[in-house]
This record gives sequence, structure tokens and C-alpha cells, in this order.
Amino acid sequence: FTVPKAINEPVKAYVPGSAEHTALISEYKKLLNQDPIEIPMYIGSELVKTNNKKPMSPPHDHKKVLGHFNYGDASHVNKAIEAALNARDQWANLPWEQRAAIFLKAADLLAGPFRNRMNAATMLAQSKNVMQAEIDAACELIDFFRFNVQYLTQIYKEQPESLPGMWNRLEYRPLEGFVFAVTPFNFTSIAANLCAAPAMMGNVIVWKPAESQMYSAQVIMEVFRAAGVPDGVINMISVEGSVAGDVIFKNKHLAGLHFTGSTGVFRHLWKEIGNNIENYRTYPRIVGETGGKDFVMVHKSANAAEVATALSRGAFEFQGQKCSAASRAYVPSNIWGDVKDILVNQVKSFKMGSPEDSSNFMNAVIDERAFDKIAGFIDYAKGQSDAEIIVGGSYDKSTGYFIDATVIVTTNPKFRTLSEEIFGPVLTIYVYPENQFEETLKLLDETSEYALTGSIISNDRYAIQVATKALENSAGNFYINDKPTGAVVGQQPFGGARGSGTNDKAGASMNLLRWVSARTIKETF
Ligand code: SER
Repeated sequence: FTVPKAINEPVKAYVPGSAEHTALISEYKKLLNQDPIEIPMYIGSELVKTNNKKPMSPPHDHKKVLGHFNYGDASHVNKAIEAALNARDQWANLPWEQRAAIFLKAADLLAGPFRNRMNAATMLAQSKNVMQAEIDAACELIDFFRFNVQYLTQIYKEQPESLPGMWNRLEYRPLEGFVFAVTPFNFTSIAANLCAAPAMMGNVIVWKPAESQMYSAQVIMEVFRAAGVPDGVINMISVEGSVAGDVIFKNKHLAGLHFTGSTGVFRHLWKEIGNNIENYRTYPRIVGETGGKDFVMVHKSANAAEVATALSRGAFEFQGQKCSAASRAYVPSNIWGDVKDILVNQVKSFKMGSPEDSSNFMNAVIDERAFDKIAGFIDYAKGQSDAEIIVGGSYDKSTGYFIDATVIVTTNPKFRTLSEEIFGPVLTIYVYPENQFEETLKLLDETSEYALTGSIISNDRYAIQVATKALENSAGNFYINDKPTGAVVGQQPFGGARGSGTNDKAGASMNLLRWVSARTIKETF
């Protein structure tokens, strides 16, 4: 078989006043103003409700209640595992093209009838503006489905040599057990793909979405169901992390963890698996994308306007809550004056508010915990003599969790906000003497434990080469003359190493390969 050739889903422009913009905003308003909804857990064929219901609100309007999601306990985790294992054999034995067809259909549903609802739900749940929702919940997710289907066919085709008198085969079987997917709030597409990628390869899933993403997680579940994912193949639960962990990590059928979230939580889950390692039937596959302290390194040959734009977009789109967001920059002294003027003007021009108004470049951060943490970093910088806030620095949570795009400049190359992950709209800049390029590359590499994304901006080809070599372990995604965000599925496989993850590149065959356990068959004639 061959499958339809994957091409990237075109990003719609949503020009205010156009029919597509009007339709999306009216869907947003419909979801905002409808009666509060109730989101069940999806366990096997059951839509499970409990007596414990948690409210959901838009981060930009936290007094508004969109509805509730049902919160479970250990018994629901057990039921979800049971439902997954019951579904496992039939799903694993389904020919791969039948599974692939389901996800191609999911892509088409998202590209068509579900697009507005998925985007509007992401705008409401995660406070993404129209463009940020479109590139995530529509395009990136459609691309994940279509490209992964293409990649899996290449995996299945890869076969060993045979000689006359024998036939060698590789059978790419799903893992023996279930996969636990733990997913983040910041990308609807990542949440869905952490379930879909192993499921496509024939695995069954217990999925625990981030609580702050439940509103859009439910739409993902509905897309899966509408596309024909059978009951029990992907089970969605909402349970306290430690309660879910207690049950899941003790279960002998745990065959994999597919995770995106914080470095601390990932390390904790890895230890839990380690503590139980003797109890498993098979060694669980552990795949995780975790924290980042993503950088922009600038050479003295760079153009100041290009640097400022890479910084303002890279650091502040989606309020700096992309795992790839630029959060530290190293700018040479010869162009710093110009970069500063342009950057400050750009940042001052950003409007902030509800995602319903497309002129708002920035919206709210995800929740109160994130707000308080980010505000804490800003307050810290305000109190230090070796740092200065050159733009932004205010925040207000009276109606929504709004934090100004904030730029800190420090004279201290070890300043705290140059190394610690903030996950919000805060960029820290260190201005270095323009003739200390190589020393600064070394400093950059040594300053953080993470290695997710980074950029070099330079018009000097030798400098580009020196930086590319010096930073070879500093970022899993390295960009030359661009911002460090915006990886496109099929074009820039995404993931980092060191404290940033296992670098199994989302949207690439190397991720899918983690979800199969191959059997070699030799037949002699
Ligand atoms: N894929 C996103 C980006 O590259 C981050 O997860 O910005």
C-alpha cells in the first residue's frame, strides 16, 4: 500500500472581517455563552461522571465558568487500564492501514467540520489568539496525523535481506501492554499526538491531560471518536497525578510513558518506573519532552531589526509558554543600542487582552499558579542591582492572568533568569563585548541544564559555522537566522536532549519506532 502523500495543512489567514474569521469568532462566542458543559472521563465505552467536579474558566476571564470536568480516583484509573487492555488485542491485530485510515480521517475532520470548534476551544481553554490556535490545534495536529501515517508506512516497509533458501522478516508489533500519555496544556496538538502516535502503531492508551487543558482535550476525544477510534483504545481520565501514578506505575502491563511537561515531573515519573522495574512484564519505553531555556545568540554582523523581531516573536507569542520560546539572548555590544530601540518599540506596540479580539498579540497566561510564578521572577529582577527591566514588568490578575511582555537586561552572565525556566513572557538579555563571540558561546552552553531550542543570528558564515559547532549539544532544534520557535511537522522534527528530554523527535519516524517491539522471523525452506 501507499498512503496519501502528506503535505502541510495551509494556515488560514483569518483576516478580520473575512467569512472564515467571522465563523471562528462566532463559534468562540457560542462556546463562551452556552450553558456550562460537563466533561466526562472516557473509559472504554463509558462516559463516566463522578460526584467530584472541577470548574473550567478561560485564563483571560477567570470569573466566567465554562463548565466542569469530572474528577476521578484510583478506581477510575484501574478501570481505564482494564478498558485499554481489553481493547488491546483487537486493535493490535487490526492491519495497519485500517488504523492509519482512522487518523487520516481525523485529520480531514479537523481540517473541515471540527476546525472552528477545535480552534475556538483552544482559544478559550488556553488563551491562544486566532493565529496561535490555528497553527496549533488545526495545522500542527493535522500535520501530526498525516505525516505520522506516512512515516509509519516507511517503518513497516523496512525489511532485512534474505538469501535463497530462507526468508527473513521483521514484524513491527505494538508494545505488550498499555501506554500512559501525560500531556501539557500549552499545545492541543502535542496533547493529541502523545496519544495518537503510539495508538497508530497499534498501542492502547491511558491519557491524563493537563487539568488546565480539559476544555479542549474533550474536543480531541470527540475528534478521535468521530474518526472511528474504537472504545478503549484511548481512555481519558482526570485524576490527581499522584493517585494515577500509584496505580499506573505499579501495573505490570505498563509498556510505555509518553510525556510532555516539566523536567521535575518527568524525572519523578522515571524514578517511579525505576522503583517498580522488577514488576513489569516488559521494560517500559520512556519518551519525554521536558523543560527548556531556549536561546538566541547574536553575532556582531547581524542586522538589528532582524534580531529584534526574532526576539519579540520568539519570546512573546503565546505569552512565552511554548516549550521552544526564546527566554535568553546574548547580544553583542556594537548593535545593542539599535536592537534595544527596535525591540522596546515592538514590545510597547503589543496589545494584550482577550483572544476574541485578533488585534491582541498577547493574551493571558494559563492559570494563577503560572501567573504567581512568573510575577515572582519579575519581582526578583526588580530587586537586583545587576539587572534592569527595560520594558514591561507589570502584571494584573483581577480579571484574567495578564502579564506584560517583559525584557530584563543584566550585566551578570550568571543572572538567575538566564538559567532558570520561567515559562512565561519574560526575556533576559546579556550584552556581551562584541569581540568575545567564542567565549560567549561557551558561556551560553554552560549556563543552563536544558537543550531544547536555540538560534544563531549572523551575517557572517564563519561565525555561523563556529556557533553551529560550539552549540552542537545545546539545542535539539537549532535555527540559523530565525527565531527558535515554530517547528513545522514534516520539516523540523522537534525535541531536545539534556534536561529537555529524550530527544525522540515528535513528528518523525524515530518517535514512532519507540512504540513498536519488533519480532524477527527467519523461515528456512
Ligand atoms: N512545536 C512548537 C514550536 O516549535 C513547540 O512545541 O514552537
